[in-house]
Amino acid sequence: MNDQPTKHDIYTRLSHAGRAGTHVHGFVNPPVHRGSTVLVENVAMRADAGNHRLEQYMIYGVCGGPTHYALENVVAEIEGGTRCQIVSSGLAAVTTPLLAYLKTGDHCLMPDSVYGPARGFANGMMKGFGIETTFYDPCIDGAGLAALMQPNTKVLYLESPGSHTFEVQDVPALATVAHAHGAKVLMDNTWGIYHFQPFQHGVDVSIQALTKYVVGHSDVLLGSIVTNSDEDWEIVRTASLALGQYASPDDCWLALRGARTMAVRMERQFASSIEVARWLAGRPEVKQVLHPALPGAPGHEVWARDFTGGCSLFGVVFQPGFSNEAIGAMINSLELFGIGASWGGFESLALPSNISINRTAGTGDFGGPVVRYHVGLEAPGDLIADLEQSLGVLRSNSLEKTQLD
Ligand SMILES: Cc1ncc(COP(=O)(O)O)c(C=O)c1O
Repeated sequence: MNDQPTKHDIYTRLSHAGRAGTHVHGFVNPPVHRGSTVLVENVAMRADAGNHRLEQYMIYGVCGGPTHYALENVVAEIEGGTRCQIVSSGLAAVTTPLLAYLKTGDHCLMPDSVYGPARGFANGMMKGFGIETTFYDPCIDGAGLAALMQPNTKVLYLESPGSHTFEVQDVPALATVAHAHGAKVLMDNTWGIYHFQPFQHGVDVSIQALTKYVVGHSDVLLGSIVTNSDEDWEIVRTASLALGQYASPDDCWLALRGARTMAVRMERQFASSIEVARWLAGRPEVKQVLHPALPGAPGHEVWARDFTGGCSLFGVVFQPGFSNEAIGAMINSLELFGIGASWGGFESLALPSNISINRTAGTGDFGGPVVRYHVGLEAPGDLIADLEQSLGVLRSNSLEKTQLD
């Protein structure tokens, strides 16, 4: 079990992880190893290959190769786990462990704020397989969670902060309750990345959409599943192989390349996001900023206790008087923010969250329309100027603009 803080700083680790054993003729980076067939020297070796399917051992393309393993080692290292499985997308990293740990008749607990397609998977395929899901208030405390546990609850799923409304979960308290009831704790750690160490807070299986900041350039979809015990590794690895989970080595290579510079990008984007969020918080059109790292924002105390930093994705609740149409016109007017899903790339994005807030545990009312912003690598002053002109568009489209003057 890896519960020791790693010796080196994250900058050093991102520079050195995943390189050992992959040097080829002195080149710094591992090459792209493409392949389906892997040749062995004799039949006996082939017969023995099946004994190694849970290891980083080249048997057949779908089991991974050197480029996959290099990336897997980097991700396991930065999350403080022992093993990592790379899968085809962040969504596959969500669904694969859910399928691995749940079977017909089981019960799963998911936060009401969960990433939409995870909710869709629970309400669709999982339900079809006879797995029941209860959506709970993400800000629930240990006692509240204990009241929701059933004898058949096998998975407590966490996503902290929620990727549209940024509720920060009390992971250690919730994990303690789940373990006391014999449930596994699966967490989507995409927002925290290396700023939240899942295994030091009671998580058993950590999920990441590498698509976001690890890749960092909006050009690859990839997911990772990290475990910290042999038992969990075997469950996750077996399910991934059974489902034929595979990622292109070219994509793994791009993610490895992204990982080398991730901390620098993160630091810059995080700082810019705080500057932008702080500016927005001071605007009369804004009711509340949902950035856990901003003092006074919801969840800030838990974030300060459990995280060492953050990323550049946050939400803004606008005053209740603004219509969805006015919010749409404001977003449409932005010149430097693209309108699009995903996040973690070099470019800024804006998206109305209303379309993604689909709640059943009574946690969907923020008292006004919510917009999600992703701050990229542009200069924060330019972004703020763009936001300022967009707020002018919002006001000119609002029936209630006079109340704000
Ligand atoms: C929190 C979270 N988890 C998982 C995913 C899925 O990642 P991918 O787009 O790589 O499938 C996303 C994508 O937006 C996400 O926001």
